[in-house]
Amino acid sequence: MVYEFISVILIISKVWGGIPLKTIGVLTSGGDAPGMNAAIRAVVRTAIENDMHILGINNGYEGLMTGDIIEMNLRSVSNIINRGGTILHSARSMEFKTPEGQKKAADMCKSLGIEGLIVIGGDGSFRGAQALSHLGITCIGIPGTIDNDIACTDNTIGYDTAMNTVMEMVDKIRDTTESHSRCSVVEVMGRDAGYIALYAGIAVGATIILTPEFPYDFQKDVIDVMKRTISTGKRHFVIVIAEGCGDAEEMAAKIQEATGVESRATILGHVQRGGSPTVKDRVLASRMGNYATRLLRYDDRSCVVAENAGAIVDYPIDVALAMTKEIDANTYRMAHEISI
Ligand code: ADP
Ligand code: F6P
Repeated sequence: MVYEFISVILIISKVWGGIPLKTIGVLTSGGDAPGMNAAIRAVVRTAIENDMHILGINNGYEGLMTGDIIEMNLRSVSNIINRGGTILHSARSMEFKTPEGQKKAADMCKSLGIEGLIVIGGDGSFRGAQALSHLGITCIGIPGTIDNDIACTDNTIGYDTAMNTVMEMVDKIRDTTESHSRCSVVEVMGRDAGYIALYAGIAVGATIILTPEFPYDFQKDVIDVMKRTISTGKRHFVIVIAEGCGDAEEMAAKIQEATGVESRATILGHVQRGGSPTVKDRVLASRMGNYATRLLRYDDRSCVVAENAGAIVDYPIDVALAMTKEIDANTYRMAHEISI
């Protein structure tokens, strides 16, 4: 009771004195994703509107270790909600993975007065946040990755945009594939996760979709399926494979040899990581950024923010990192049933 009373007096005097209640930092880490800028914008605006001092940290954990920071104000995040990439840049840091690197980053937070840190990235970045939280820095993770492979959340920032990019690209590939009666093997991102491949594959009407989660037999699941569709009159084929499922060039050559259908491979690559975010990603990023920042201001505990059945919620970092999610087997089955 006494403690709560003192806290309220402190808060009132800080606000009256015009002193920000707290200093927090925000960084983006790991593979970038469209919508990260919208999240940064929400964090900065929410922080300032709730009497906090906000520092932007450049180049992820690399910049945190070296103190590469910029003061953010309301106008630092103007005109970025529509932009792909991240104005704070992103990096992968080997040094930060070491206990020495983590201590360096925690010491830097303390010397800069950073009491809370928002980390926008994937699960690797959240492991970094977990380490920092054990060193006394409150950290909140916001899931930003095109792969949608963060178990605690239904959707990650960037996933919807990446799928729409794949859809647009494959629609174009389909035109020329049809004109030439060919087979196109299109490789999409996702070393260990097949979300982009499965859902974008459904959207483009791919004849065959291969993801790392479902083992496949090349003869039975590719060649035999193609031969059966050829017997029904089909003359062109789009096959979508996640990058973790083998080499697209090699697969195209083997398909041509086994079926006689002229085949080409397209690796979509980093086009999937860029571009203006979709409505869904901008809104998700704005909601998550706002939620995370208010948590730091009014609650102050380390966690990962997530979207569950449309609601924004949070999980302790340890719990979030221990969770697993499985790609829906019924959706995978359905995709193949209707693509023949
Ligand atoms: P993502 O966040 O997209 O999964 P990475 O796995 O590359 O991307 O992780 C981003 C950064 O997070 C790494 O470069 C590293 O600095 C940090 N990181 C990754 N794994 C760990 C870990 N186990 N412990 C501490 N830091 C980590
Ligand atoms: O984590 C996102 C992702 O795009 C993966 O799908 C892909 O395997 C990886 O990043 C590629 O990362 P980079 O080319 O930046 O090393």
